[in-house]
Amino acid sequence: MRPYDIILKKRRGEELSREEITFLVDGFTRGDIPDYQMSAWCMAVFFQGMSARETRDLTIAMARSGETVDLSAIRGVKVDKHSTGGVGDKTTLVLAPLVAAAGVPVAKMSGRGLGHTGGTLDKLESIPGFRVDLSKDAFVRNVNSIGVAVVGQTAAVAPADKKLYALRDVTATVDSMPLIASSVCSKKLACGSDAIVFDVKAGSGAFMKSDEDAVALARLMVEIVEGAGRRAAAVVSDMSQPLGLAVGNALEVREAIDALRGQGPPDLIELCLTLGSLMLVLGGAASDTDRARELLGRLLENGSALAKFAEFVAAQGGDATVCERPEILPRAAHTVPVPSHASGYVSAIDAERVGVAAMILGAGRRVKDEAIDPAAGLVVEKKIGQEVAAGEPLALLHTNNAASIEEASRLVSSAYTISQSPPSPPLLVKRVFGAQR
Ligand code: URA
Repeated sequence: MRPYDIILKKRRGEELSREEITFLVDGFTRGDIPDYQMSAWCMAVFFQGMSARETRDLTIAMARSGETVDLSAIRGVKVDKHSTGGVGDKTTLVLAPLVAAAGVPVAKMSGRGLGHTGGTLDKLESIPGFRVDLSKDAFVRNVNSIGVAVVGQTAAVAPADKKLYALRDVTATVDSMPLIASSVCSKKLACGSDAIVFDVKAGSGAFMKSDEDAVALARLMVEIVEGAGRRAAAVVSDMSQPLGLAVGNALEVREAIDALRGQGPPDLIELCLTLGSLMLVLGGAASDTDRARELLGRLLENGSALAKFAEFVAAQGGDATVCERPEILPRAAHTVPVPSHASGYVSAIDAERVGVAAMILGAGRRVKDEAIDPAAGLVVEKKIGQEVAAGEPLALLHTNNAASIEEASRLVSSAYTISQSPPSPPLLVKRVFGAQR
């Protein structure tokens, strides 16, 4: 087999065999196939697409390109959740303990934030003492004893994806549906869960700006994971504005704790109940999503979900008193309101701009491995559909870097569209695939 022939075949729009795809992925991972040939192949895929079968074969080849995590020492059906990334998305902080409290083990490998989107590991690390670098043994032990652990994904998982993503990033081939789906699913399959629930975001703060693209990606990812012999479900959810109110690491932890008391913002609670009920059905803890939802509601109300969060935080070295005293979380030196430039109704929010503003304030990274400030971020005061008077705050900025305030304030202000008539608020859960019995 020659890489040249495989590139040509794809350029002509023909379907590649599993052997050809595996040859390409393995050769590229080993360094035998150079970047220029792989780039040409990515561009051919970008224009010609891939069939569902090819996409599944690419996913499996990438999942097998490095370490595959064996979770068989953990009892029960292990269910993972993956979000395609958004602004203010702290669902994992709520879902991990909530689902564990319902009896489904959560053995989760998460990532860090980049650009306008945040990452679960950074959020958790804003809790004093919290560690995400557990050994494999401690990870398994924690899940078996308390039902939940969250750690960083090791570099050894799906190295083919890491290499390919870096190449796509500089060759304008990131936004290809089969390449995105295979990238996400390869990592998830390699991390060893029995079932996966995808939260595919759609809107201004998401990777997928249109509902149609988000639905197509959700469908494709469910098909790939099921084709690989695991169970899957997906939700397409709104990201045309930040989820909840808080954007930024410690601020989001505080909001997640409120949600675990059943007192968080309604959109955050609703999305957690939707995703959580799918996780319970896939995990065998409920026969249908209605019963699962009832159970999750009870666990939020009776304090079990918050108690599980405290156990989870303590088991990973964190200060569990954060549940009663969220004021121990890092706090920013400056809090500055962003006033509305007009009176009327909030008709749109450019969530990506809000995410970039939080990054500028110190909450996120412009480039990989940049240091972040756990206290930084912002709290949205007005969401789509709400009435606002000129001069009233749209958001409250939190930062330790006074020099960032002006730019962040300008960005947040420009992210808001104020209209004279009330708009209909966006639908939070747009579609649900799978696990509905
Ligand atoms: N996230 C991923 O992990 N991979 C992609 O290709 C895009 C987003």
